[in-house]
Amino acid sequence: MVTDVPVWVQLVYLAAAICFVLALKGLSSPGTARRGNLLGAGAAVVATAVVFFERDLDHVVPILVAIAVGSVVGVVGSRRVQMTQMPQLVALFNGVGGGAAALVALLELHELVGSAVPAVVLVATVFTVLVGSVSFAGSVVTFAKLQELMTTRPVVFPGLPVAFVVALVGAVVLGALVVADPVVWVGVVIAVLGLVVGVLLVLPVGGADVPIVISLLNAFTGLTVAAGGYVLGNTLLLVAGTLVGASGTLLTVMMARGMGRSVTNTLFGALKGGSTLGAGEASDRPVRSANAEDVAIMLGYADRVIVVPGYGLAVAQAQHTLRELVEVLAARGTTVDYAIHPVAGRMPGHMNVLLAEAQVPYEQLREMDDVNGEFPQADVVLVVGANDVVNPAARTSPGAPIYGMPILDADQGRQVVFMKRSMRPGFAGIENELLFEPRTTLLFGDAKEQMGKLLNAVKAL
Ligand code: TAP
Repeated sequence: MVTDVPVWVQLVYLAAAICFVLALKGLSSPGTARRGNLLGAGAAVVATAVVFFERDLDHVVPILVAIAVGSVVGVVGSRRVQMTQMPQLVALFNGVGGGAAALVALLELHELVGSAVPAVVLVATVFTVLVGSVSFAGSVVTFAKLQELMTTRPVVFPGLPVAFVVALVGAVVLGALVVADPVVWVGVVIAVLGLVVGVLLVLPVGGADVPIVISLLNAFTGLTVAAGGYVLGNTLLLVAGTLVGASGTLLTVMMARGMGRSVTNTLFGALKGGSTLGAGEASDRPVRSANAEDVAIMLGYADRVIVVPGYGLAVAQAQHTLRELVEVLAARGTTVDYAIHPVAGRMPGHMNVLLAEAQVPYEQLREMDDVNGEFPQADVVLVVGANDVVNPAARTSPGAPIYGMPILDADQGRQVVFMKRSMRPGFAGIENELLFEPRTTLLFGDAKEQMGKLLNAVKAL
C-alpha cells in the first residue's frame, strides 16, 4: 500500500480527476465529444507518466515494454475496427481493465499477507479480485456473442441458476475467510469462482440485450478499479473508477429503459423463459416490392417524408448518400426529418454518430417522443436498414423479445418503404408484420447501392 504520495503528485492527480469529469461532460454532446475524449485520454497519459517520476520503480523496462505493446494493440485495434463492431471493442477493453485490476489485487494480497492491515483494505482487495474476474470473463463471453464466435441466443441449461448461486456464494464465503486470515491461494480460488460467475451471468443473455450487459460490466470494472485505488492508496484510480462505475450504471439503466425492460429482466429473463430470441428465419410470405425508380416517384410526390435509419444503414455505410438524397428532396420543397430511436443500431447514440459523421444537421435529427406524433402526416416513411425499432410486435405481441419497447410509429405513415436486402428479421429475430401491410413497399438490396440508384432517380425527376 502506498500512502506517502508527494504533494505535487497529488496535485497532478487532482488536475487529472478534474479533466476526467470535464471529459465526461464533453462526451455528453456530439459537438464536444471529440474534445472530451482527447481531454480524458491526455489526463490518463499524464497520470500514468507521473508514476515514473514519483518514486524509484523496479522493473522499468518490462513496464515500458508492456505499455508499448498495449498501446500498439490499442491503437491498431481501434483504427481497424468498423463502427458496427464498436461494442465488441468496448467489451474487450472493458474485460482487460477488469482482469488487470483483479491481477493487481491478487499481487497486493500477496504483499498484505502477514502484515497488519485494516480489514476494510482486505475487503476492498477481495472485492477487486472477485468483481474484476466477473467483469473479465463476462466481457469475453459478450465479445464472443457479438463477434458471432458463439450463438447470440440465450444459452440456458438445467442447473445453471444453481451453479451461478453456488459459485457466487462460495466466492463470498471464501472472501470472508481471506478478510479474517489472508491467504493468496484462497484469493486465486475466488478469482476462478469470479470467472465462473462472469460466464454464467452472460450466457443466458440474448444477443439483442448484450450491449446492455457490456455497459453493466463496464460499471463493474469501474467499481473494481475504484476499490483497487483504495487498496493501492491511489486517489486518482478511486475517482476514475467511481466515475466509470456511476456513468456505466446510469447508461445501463437508460439503455434497459429504452428497450422497455428492467436490468434484472435483461439478465435473468431467459431463465424464466421470457427473453428468448425468435426463430430468425426469412419469411416466404408475399410482399409488395418495387425498384428505385418507383420509389423515387413516391418520394417525388411527397410533401412530408420521415426517414427511419437503423443498423443496416451503418452496415451499408449509406449515410452520406442518404444525406444527399434528403438534401435533394429538401431542395424540391419536401419536408424531411430523421426519426431517431434510442436503441437503433447496436450502441447508444449509434445513429447520431453515424449521421453526424455524414454532416447531417443536428436539428434534422428528431427524437422518438418528439417525432412520433407526426407519422400520420408523413406521405412516405423511408425505413433504411431498420426493423425492430418499427416492429409493431413491440405493442401487440406479449412474449416477443421486444414486447414493451417503445417504437417509432412508422406504421402510422401513409406509405412505408423498407430498404433491406432480404426478408430476414432484425436483431431480435422476429417477423415484422409491417412488412406485409398493403401500404408497405420493399426496396430490396444493399442500402448503399439502392440509395445511390434512388438518389439518381430522384435527381432525374
Ligand atoms: P435491426 O432490427 O437489427 O434491423 C436491421 C435491418 O437492417 C435488418 O432488417 C437487415 O435486413 C437490414 N440490413 C442489414 N444490412 C443491410 C444492408 N447492407 N443494406 C440494407 N439493409 C441491411 O436494427 P434496428 O431497427 O436498428 O434495431 C436495433 C436492434 O438492436 C434492436 O433489436 C435493439 O433492441 C438492439 N439493440 C440496440 C442497442 C443499442 S444501444 N443501439 C442495444 C441493445 C440492443 P436484411 O438482413 O434483410 O438486409
